[in-house]
Amino acid sequence: MSTQSRKRPVTLNTLGSYKKQGKKFACLTAYDAGFAEMESKAGIEVILVGDSLGMVLQGHDSTLPVTMDDMIYHTRCVSRGNDIALLMADLPFMAYASEPQTLENAAALMQVGAQIVKLEGGAWLAESTRLLSERGIPVCAHMGLTPQSINRLGGYRVQGRDPKQAEKMIAEAKILESAGASILLLECVPVYLAREITEALAIPVIGIGAGPDTDGQIMVVHDMLGITPADIKLPKFVKNFLPESTAGIQGALSAYVDAVQQGKFPAPEHCFT
Ligand code: KIV
Repeated sequence: MSTQSRKRPVTLNTLGSYKKQGKKFACLTAYDAGFAEMESKAGIEVILVGDSLGMVLQGHDSTLPVTMDDMIYHTRCVSRGNDIALLMADLPFMAYASEPQTLENAAALMQVGAQIVKLEGGAWLAESTRLLSERGIPVCAHMGLTPQSINRLGGYRVQGRDPKQAEKMIAEAKILESAGASILLLECVPVYLAREITEALAIPVIGIGAGPDTDGQIMVVHDMLGITPADIKLPKFVKNFLPESTAGIQGALSAYVDAVQQGKFPAPEHCFT
C-alpha cells in the first residue's frame, strides 16, 4: 500500500472527534497476530486483548485464572499483526490490587505494544486511574458487568436495573472521567442507563450488551464468528456475522464494522431494556 493511500492510525483524539461528530465506531477482541491483521484491515477502530482469552482460548470457566504473563504474550502477538487500530489490553484479575502493582503491570503491557489499559471497577479505581494517566498511560474504565468480580456479583447478569444502583453507576462513571479515564466501557446494562451515561460523559463510551446509543460497540471475536467454545452460554447481545458473509471471516469482520457504523447493530433483540 502506498503511504498516500494508507489510513492514519486510530488515536484517542480520533475517538474523541467521532464522539463529537456522533460517528459510531467498532471494536473487537483479538488474541493473535493473524486476527489482529484481519481486524485492522476490516476497519476495526479499537482492538482489545481481552482477558476473555481465559475462556475462549484457554477453556476456563471465568477470566480469573488469566495471568500477566498471558496478557503480555498475547498483547505482543496482537501488536505485531495490528496496523492502525488503537490497541487496548486488559489488566487481569488481581494485577491492579495495589497502586505500585498497577503502575508496574500497566507499564509492562504498554512496553509490549498496548496503547491503553483497561481496568474493571468503579470509583475505587479513581486514584489508580489518576496515577496512570498522569504518567502517560491512558485508562479505559470497565463498568457494569465486570467479569473479574463474578463471584461477588453472583452470576453474569444485567447491572444497573435497580434505580439506586443506576444512580451509583452514573456517579462513579463521572468520578472516573474526572480522575482521567480516557474511555469508559459498559457491559450488560439497560439501554436507557447506557444512553444517560454516554450523554453525561465527554469521553467516548464503548458498549457490549449496553444498547445502540453508546459511542462504540465491542464484541468477543469468537462470539461474532460463532466459534465460542460450546460450554460457554452465549448472552443475548451476541450476533454471529459469519453465516451472512460471502467473503468468509474477512467479510464477517467488515459486515460487523458496517453494521456498527450504520447503527444497525445492536438491534433491539440484542438489548436489555
Ligand atoms: O475481556 C474481554 O474480552 C472484555 C470484553 C467482553 C469487553 O472485557
